[in-house]
Amino acid sequence: MCGIIARIGENGAVDELMTGLRNLEYRGYDSAGIAVANEHGIEVRKREGETDALHALLSESPIDGPIGIGHTRWSTHGRPSDANAHPHTDDDGRVAVVHNGIIRNHDRLRNELVARGHEFESETDTEVVPHLVAASLDEGLDPEDAFRAAIERLEGSYAIAMIAEGYDAVYAARSGSPLVIGLDDDATYLASDVPAFLEFTEQVVYLEDDDVVVITDDGYRVTDLDGAALDRSSEVVDWAAGDAQKGAYNHFMRKEIDEQPVALRQAIEGRIDDDDRVDLSVFPNGELAEIDDVVFVACGTSYHAAMYGSRLLRRRGIRSTVARANEFAYDPLPVDEGTLIVAVTQSGETADTLASLRAAVGTDARTLAVTNVVGSTAAREADETLFIRAGPEIGVAATKTFSSQVAALALLAERIADEQEAVPLPVADGGLDRSQLLADLRRLPDAIESVVASDDALRLAERYRDADSYFFIGRGVGYPVALEGALKFKEITYDHAEGFAAGQLKHGPLALVTSNTVVIATFTGRNDEQTIHNVQEAKSRGAPVIGIGPESSTAAREAVDEYLSVPDVVPELAGVLANAHLQLLAYHAAELRDRAIDKPRNLAKSVTVE
Ligand code: F6R
Repeated sequence: MCGIIARIGENGAVDELMTGLRNLEYRGYDSAGIAVANEHGIEVRKREGETDALHALLSESPIDGPIGIGHTRWSTHGRPSDANAHPHTDDDGRVAVVHNGIIRNHDRLRNELVARGHEFESETDTEVVPHLVAASLDEGLDPEDAFRAAIERLEGSYAIAMIAEGYDAVYAARSGSPLVIGLDDDATYLASDVPAFLEFTEQVVYLEDDDVVVITDDGYRVTDLDGAALDRSSEVVDWAAGDAQKGAYNHFMRKEIDEQPVALRQAIEGRIDDDDRVDLSVFPNGELAEIDDVVFVACGTSYHAAMYGSRLLRRRGIRSTVARANEFAYDPLPVDEGTLIVAVTQSGETADTLASLRAAVGTDARTLAVTNVVGSTAAREADETLFIRAGPEIGVAATKTFSSQVAALALLAERIADEQEAVPLPVADGGLDRSQLLADLRRLPDAIESVVASDDALRLAERYRDADSYFFIGRGVGYPVALEGALKFKEITYDHAEGFAAGQLKHGPLALVTSNTVVIATFTGRNDEQTIHNVQEAKSRGAPVIGIGPESSTAAREAVDEYLSVPDVVPELAGVLANAHLQLLAYHAAELRDRAIDKPRNLAKSVTVE
């Protein structure tokens, strides 16, 4: 949802800013721009389209300097165009600004500035910022104080970076949108996210809301809005530069699908001891004994992982519900001191999920963030954080983080159940086999490796490429997997895809099923008989059916036209493996349609506006 980068060091800012923008393009790709401060003053180049268009512009009309800011945009106010692309400047080009977020009171500020003679060139909310700064410069303030004065007038969310003519510094601030500093011997960076500058440095400083920062070529200074100094120390991230690069792959999505064995190993590593006890370190022993209700809040793929996790908790006899984060903040569920509110969010920056987390503050409930990003807002604002340790995910379509989220939630479910000394139903009565679950969880990385290596989905993507619609169905943990399969498919192929609880088809959606509707059914080895009935209902309306399920499920295999198998594991984990086939099905289908797989139209990875 817009990526910003700033860099100050020796001459040569533009190359590094372009690298940063390419690394941030997953946050938005409607338009891109750069501004540098050099001996000519401030020079700006910006263009509608992806960073390649900006690169072409820079080749025709090069600029460079020691200090610069850059932006890649996902439009909120104003359509994608050269004029609306960032950076934005004041009338005289004394300052240039990039911004991620939304300035809610921009109309009022713009009217006020226009009345004072300022001329605007774009339809964006951002453009008020350079004009506000310029107004304060006119009153004699220096750039830092003028920047601070402008920030104080803003309502909404922002991460903003600014350069000023004649000053060797970048001025920045954050409120509600992420911003992190990168420290290197030769240069200092600022960006929306660590991958932007991971090629240059792994030494970072996470900023907090209402921080104002000035970076220079030899470091940084952080203050609050009133100018009082704040201590923000640096740390080394445990992501390597290669983690955020495509390497030999055509797409990040494919790379990240293939990284699932590693991601799962990292998610599980050191968290199950030899006595099958789950150690999550964030919770000292006994901490979760009083939890009697777990409420998940999440969006998109993380919502599906939360649905999956909620089912695992319920299998262990723990009450659990899942709320869409975009609704929970406005239509909250009743919670009390026995409630654990779990915000599941890969980025830790999704505005809807943060709004839900904030709605929980002030209640008696405890909060837990389950996230991939150290230093993210969710990690800082929740009472506790459980990191999923999947490594950076750059493709807009979430893949490896879904598997790692489910693994982390499976561990959480076991840990809560252990502390409550919950006695599972006997396996013979349909209860969960706890020791088998933990054994299979340890085996999951190898099992998923065999699924992604098989790549059987390619043949089916080719065979069914001309269907009108793709319906994904499943039951139990197969239901969130069906929803996730459909989300992935529609997101990157742009074809119509819907996910349903298998039993729901006959309550309406079956009216849409024809011989041109491909039905993709997930089997887990639990209650498959009922799902086979639902498959038959679709088949008798002429629909071809692809089944995905355990190797040994003969009945499921025989009920469908095509079958993609996964290694036999407990039903509770079979969905994670089936999902890897669905990711590959969507990937190949999108490739056959020549889609922009890593940057699907209208989307961005980190959705930092509500
Ligand atoms: C889909 C996808 C999105 C995100 C959603 C939440 O492939 O990536 O649906 O899952 O925007 O993002 P996080 O997990 O960062 O809160």
